[in-house]
Amino acid sequence: MTKVAIIGAGPCGLSMLRSFEQAEKKGEKIPEIVCFEKQEDWGGLWNYSWRTGSDQYGDPVPNSMYRYLWSNGPKECLEFADYSFDEHFGNPIPSFPPREVLYDYILGRVTKGNLKDKVRFNTCVTGVVYSENNFEITSHDKVNDKFSKDIFDYVVVSTGHFSVPFIPEYLGMKSFPGRILHSHDFRDAEEFRGKNVIVLGSSYSAEDVALQCHKYGAKSVTIGYRHNPMGFKWPSGVKEVFYLDRLEGNKAIFKDGHEQEADAIILCSGYLHHFPFLSEDLKLKTGNRLYPPKLYKGVVLQNNHKLLYLGMQDQFHTFNMFDCQAWFARDVVMGKIKIPNNSEIEKDINKWVSMEEKLENPDQMIDFQTEYTKELHNLSDYPKIDFELIRTHFKEWEHHKVEDIMTYRNNSFSSPVTGSVAPIHHTPWASAMDDSLKNFLNKSKN
Ligand SMILES: Cc1cc2nc3c(=O)[nH]c(=O)nc-3n(C[C@H](O)[C@H](O)[C@H](O)COP(=O)(O)OP(=O)(O)OC[C@H]3O[C@@H](n4cnc5c(N)ncnc54)[C@H](O)[C@@H]3O)c2cc1C
Ligand SMILES: NC(=O)c1ccc[n+]([C@@H]2O[C@H](COP(=O)([O-])OP(=O)(O)OC[C@H]3O[C@@H](n4cnc5c(N)ncnc54)[C@H](OP(=O)(O)O)[C@@H]3O)[C@@H](O)[C@H]2O)c1
Repeated sequence: MTKVAIIGAGPCGLSMLRSFEQAEKKGEKIPEIVCFEKQEDWGGLWNYSWRTGSDQYGDPVPNSMYRYLWSNGPKECLEFADYSFDEHFGNPIPSFPPREVLYDYILGRVTKGNLKDKVRFNTCVTGVVYSENNFEITSHDKVNDKFSKDIFDYVVVSTGHFSVPFIPEYLGMKSFPGRILHSHDFRDAEEFRGKNVIVLGSSYSAEDVALQCHKYGAKSVTIGYRHNPMGFKWPSGVKEVFYLDRLEGNKAIFKDGHEQEADAIILCSGYLHHFPFLSEDLKLKTGNRLYPPKLYKGVVLQNNHKLLYLGMQDQFHTFNMFDCQAWFARDVVMGKIKIPNNSEIEKDINKWVSMEEKLENPDQMIDFQTEYTKELHNLSDYPKIDFELIRTHFKEWEHHKVEDIMTYRNNSFSSPVTGSVAPIHHTPWASAMDDSLKNFLNKSKN
C-alpha cells in the first residue's frame, strides 16, 4: 500500500487530510497516511501560543500570530468550497473575523471524522532523505524524547513559511536601550501602550502591527519602509518615513533625515522558507513570491515528483487555494493526474514565473493568483466555488484599504459558496477591543 507522510497540520496539512477523507467517502481506496505535527495540537499559526523562542522541549516555536489579530482579508475570499461559513456557524457572520473565529472555522470540518487519529502530535520531523524510490523520515517524539525512522512513498511538505523570521541588523542596535523584536515574537500590543514605536517594513505585518500598536495606545508609531511606502492615509499618531539609517542611543535616524525617539523597534522584515529537515536535493529555495520556481503547478518539486509542497506561495488566496493544491496533490499521489515529461514541466513553470515577473500592482497580482488557483481547481473534483467573485472581492478590498486603512475591516462581502451577504459587525474594528469568539458571534446575532 502507498504510504504518504504529511509534515505539518496547519491549514495546508489539514487540507491534505481532508482531500483524502473526501476521496474515501466517494468509495476510493486511499493510501496509508501519517501526519507529523510538532505542536501539541493542530491549526498551525492559527493555534495561538503565548510562547516565543522555544517550547518546553527546546524546539523553536512556529507561532507568529498575536492577540487581537483579525483577518486582514475578507473571510469570503478564503472560504472552503466544501464547508461554508454559514454551515459552520449556522448563520451569516461579518466579513473580517478575529483569529479565534477563523481558528474555529478551520477546525470545524476536520473534527467531525477521525482525521485526528492520523496525526502524530508533539512530533517534529528532523530528517527527510530520498533513496531507492522512497523517503526515509526521521522524527522526534518530543514528549518521550525518542527518535523514529519510517519509510514513505510520498512526502507532502506543509510546514508553512511564516515561522522563521528574517532578522536584519542596523547600526546602533547593540547599544539601543529599548526593546528590539521581530513581528514573529510580537504577541500583545498592550505592551507598547504609551511608547514610541518604530516599525520596519512595508508589507502586511508592518501595516497590521503598526495599526495594532496605535489602536492599543502607543504614543507614536513610525514606520520605516525600505523600497516602497505602503502609502495609506495613516491616522494621526502614525507616520511612514524612508528607511532606517541607524540608531544613536534611543534615537532612530532615517535616511530622509527624519529623527524619532524610540522605546521599541519591531522588525516586520518577513520570513525565511526554511526546511532544515530536508536533504539538500529536496529543499525548495525561494523568497516570498507568488510563484516559487521549481514547483510544477506550484506543488510538485521539479526534480522529485514524489515530493509535494503546499502553500509555499506569497498569499492573497489562502485556504481555498490550499484546498485546490491539496486536491491536486492527492490526485497525483493516487495516480489520477499524470505528471508530464520534463520539458513540459519546464515550459509550464517558466510560463508562470515569467508572467509573475511582469506583475506591477496589487490588482495584477490578484489576477495572477486567481488564474493560478482556477487552473488548479479545474484539475480536480474540488467542489464548485466562484473564483470570479473572489477576484472581484479582493480588488474591492484593496480599494477599501486605499480609501481608509482604519475602516476597511468594517465592510461586508458576499459568499462565493452560498451567496449569502455578511452582516455588518456590531462594532467598528478600530473600537472593537474584545476580539473573543463569544463577543464576535453573540453580538453579531443582534
Ligand atoms: C501574522 C500572520 C497573520 C496571518 N493572517 C492571515 C489572515 O488573516 N488570513 C489568511 O488567510 N492568512 C493569514 N496568514 C497567512 C498564513 O500563512 C495562512 O493563513 C496559514 O496559516 C498557512 O498555513 P500552512 O499550513 O501553510 O502553515 P502554518 O499555519 O505555519 O502551519 C504549519 C504547521 O507545520 C508544523 N511544522 C513545522 N515544521 C514542522 C516539522 N519539522 N515537523 C512537524 N511539524 C512541523 C507547524 O507546527 C505548524 O503547525 C497570516 C500569517 C501570519 C504570519
Ligand atoms: N491578519 C493579519 O492582519 C496579518 C497581519 C500580519 C501578517 N499577516 C500575513 O503574514 C504574512 C507575512 O507578511 P509579512 O509582512 O511578515 O512578510 P512579507 O509580506 O514577506 O514582507 C516582508 C517585508 O519585509 C521588508 N524587509 C525585508 N528586509 C528588510 C530590511 N532589511 N529592512 C527593512 N525592511 C525589510 C520587505 O520590504 P521590501 O518590500 O522593501 O523588500 C517587506 O516589506 C502575509 O501572508 C500576511 O498576509 C496577516
